Amino acid sequence: MALLSPGTPADLATSTAAAFRHAYGAEPAAVGRAPGRVNLIGEHTDYNAGTCLPVALAHATYAAVSPRSDNLVRVRSAQADDEWQGEGIGPGEVTGWASYAAGVAWALREAGVEVPGLDVCVDSTVPLGAGLSSSAALECSVAVAIAHLAGLDDSETQRRALVEACMRAETEVAGAPTGGMDQTVAMFAQPAAALLIDFLDHTTRAVPLSLGDAGLAVLVVDTRVSHALVDGGYASRRTDCETACRELGVPSLREATLDRVESLADSRIRRRARHVVTEIGRVAGTVAAIERADWRTVGQLFVASHTSMRDDFEISCPELDAAVEAALGAGAVGARMTGGGFGGSAVALVPEDVLDTAMSTVDTAFDTRGFRRPTFLRAEPSAAANLC
Ligand code: GLA
Repeated sequence: MALLSPGTPADLATSTAAAFRHAYGAEPAAVGRAPGRVNLIGEHTDYNAGTCLPVALAHATYAAVSPRSDNLVRVRSAQADDEWQGEGIGPGEVTGWASYAAGVAWALREAGVEVPGLDVCVDSTVPLGAGLSSSAALECSVAVAIAHLAGLDDSETQRRALVEACMRAETEVAGAPTGGMDQTVAMFAQPAAALLIDFLDHTTRAVPLSLGDAGLAVLVVDTRVSHALVDGGYASRRTDCETACRELGVPSLREATLDRVESLADSRIRRRARHVVTEIGRVAGTVAAIERADWRTVGQLFVASHTSMRDDFEISCPELDAAVEAALGAGAVGARMTGGGFGGSAVALVPEDVLDTAMSTVDTAFDTRGFRRPTFLRAEPSAAANLC
């Protein structure tokens, strides 16, 4: 069974620079790289001032960038047929995939960085629309390249500013009201670790993952069911969470207790809030269990998280449920849907010796139900965005 390769960073940086040369007839001034991510646990918690525990993938996006002497921005991608170009790069002026790249240049200008016109050429091994943060990888790869062109340092403060700019690009230019987990892990991940992010105070902490010692692999199943955060489902979940906060009189669901949540009158709002509050508890439980190498407990928390997303937050779908069920049936220690939901990917903690069986069991489950076959990749906890 094939696992989708992340490619070799040096080769991808070289081939992206070559594509830039071919397109624009000159060497790029900088090539940025930023990883996709898979979230281990803590879903729809970021915009609720909660916690989450993503891992950066080896699968990444590479952006070759040069400044121009005029104000034009041109953007090409190995994954798209057409070049986008224009001088207006703010909200309402760019649509589609190019808005994630051009939007970063706009947001950095808004933040006071002198960003000239740009030529940009990108390539990516992050599967698109799979719930693995291809959009944040695109934003952050462009951001680190522009930061270098603008002479910004590579400090923690500066990386935080880049996270902010990438979030603005995604929310205001691309129109996806997301919560910050993806950009934060792309900018702050550390190799061989998951990143605990706390959105109450915006701090991060690396949680080392000794997966090898435990004989475990992190398997990602891309259901290939379309997942688009600009559709209404994500925004409506956010609205439900805001309604719950208003009813409870708390600034965010981080400050809500389960007791109070259970007193909410509206069943839908109650279930949405219950997911968020219990999920934040599961993130803490998972971190503690990882730190004592108690993978059985981690697995149980994965399963509880999936149930909560399926029944309370209602963001799963039959393909995600089938992937989780089949992976568990084949011996996965734990499995859950991951990311925004409504399609996209599932993540499973699988003993190395049953990895092949797990993939073929998921394939068979999909065949039996008449679903299109999924694709698989292995999450190798990787480093944050950098200049190549
Ligand atoms: C998407 C968003 C994130 C986060 C997740 C759900 O990936 O981009 O900000 O809200 O969904 O956990």
